[in-house]
Amino acid sequence: MAPRGFAIGAAAAGGGHHLEQDYPDPFTFDHTYRGVLAEHFSSLTPENQLKWEFVHPERHKYNFGPADAIVRFAQRHGQKVRGHTLLWHSQNPAWLNEGNFSAEELRKILKEHIFTVVGRYRGKIHQWDVANEIFDGDGNYRTSENIWLRTLGPGIIADAFRWAHQADPKAKLFLNDFGAEGVNARSTAYLNLVKELRAVGVPVHGFGVQGHLSLAFSFPSDMAANLKRFDDAGFETAVTEVDVRIPLNGGTATEEQLRTQADYYRQAVEACLSVRGCTSFTVWGTTNRYSWVPVFFPNEGEATIFTDDFRPKPAYTALQTALAKARR
Ligand code: G3I
Repeated sequence: MAPRGFAIGAAAAGGGHHLEQDYPDPFTFDHTYRGVLAEHFSSLTPENQLKWEFVHPERHKYNFGPADAIVRFAQRHGQKVRGHTLLWHSQNPAWLNEGNFSAEELRKILKEHIFTVVGRYRGKIHQWDVANEIFDGDGNYRTSENIWLRTLGPGIIADAFRWAHQADPKAKLFLNDFGAEGVNARSTAYLNLVKELRAVGVPVHGFGVQGHLSLAFSFPSDMAANLKRFDDAGFETAVTEVDVRIPLNGGTATEEQLRTQADYYRQAVEACLSVRGCTSFTVWGTTNRYSWVPVFFPNEGEATIFTDDFRPKPAYTALQTALAKARR
């Protein structure tokens, strides 16, 4: 249903919260799930398998097997891959967090990591979330939480983009964050940053809005306007991690909640489709069973577009209808 060139993506589930659940690694072991990824999606994002903690568990050791498997699967099924992520405050390994490295050492560690990881997937990963979640809701750098910003200052962001570009000159390089769907202090900080970086020749190509939404809040109705201002400034955009949490408080979703949820998904994909440079829409999970939402928000859930047995929910149908109607 998707217009030509418009990718519909899904996170390939594994690592992170899955490690604590009573099922094995979904991407590797759940064949029905793999079939759903192959059938319904044209892009995959490793959910955790390219994060530092997972891919670089020891100072001199990388663990590429799981990400390699996702990339091979994507190639076999004609899918794109988004790389997530290179510079983030979260899910960093203990050896890095607790290593007491000097600024000079940290810079070298980051450079080496970016060249190794981006270089390995050169030509195979088309977009990278180079820097993830670097601003807070007021549009200030998350300096105290982020080891790179704290030790090296915000100038390290430009270096990370330069290194990623050298490692794969054709990859499109993105910033990415949640709570930045609408026009607000955080998204404005990103707009200013991408313009500043480009003005000094840093290879930055786009901005991803994650799209972790909840029925507890109204839909960010200025999402299209926000994406458009990046478009107007000459940057690509992407919707990278959509899910829509339903407040459940121990029960299950009502039909009305599922309809409202479908409407949020519809509005989100329509916002992206309305902007020329927004060329992908990725959901963060396919079924509630594998979703991060119930793990982080005990009173919310059912945030995904398929039921636990992979039947399409109203949200799935709403996306399909919006895509079929889209004229690009
Ligand atoms: O690292 C701790 C470990 O020290 C501890 O012993 C263990 C026991 O609870 O937990 C470990 O943390 C887990 C972490 O993954 C690292 O493996 C968390 O419990 C687990 O909940 C976490 O989940 C991932 C989460 O990112 C971490 O922020 C999810 O699987 C993943 O879906 C989620 O994805 C993020 C995107 O990358 C960025 N945007 C937001 C999105 C949703 O949070």
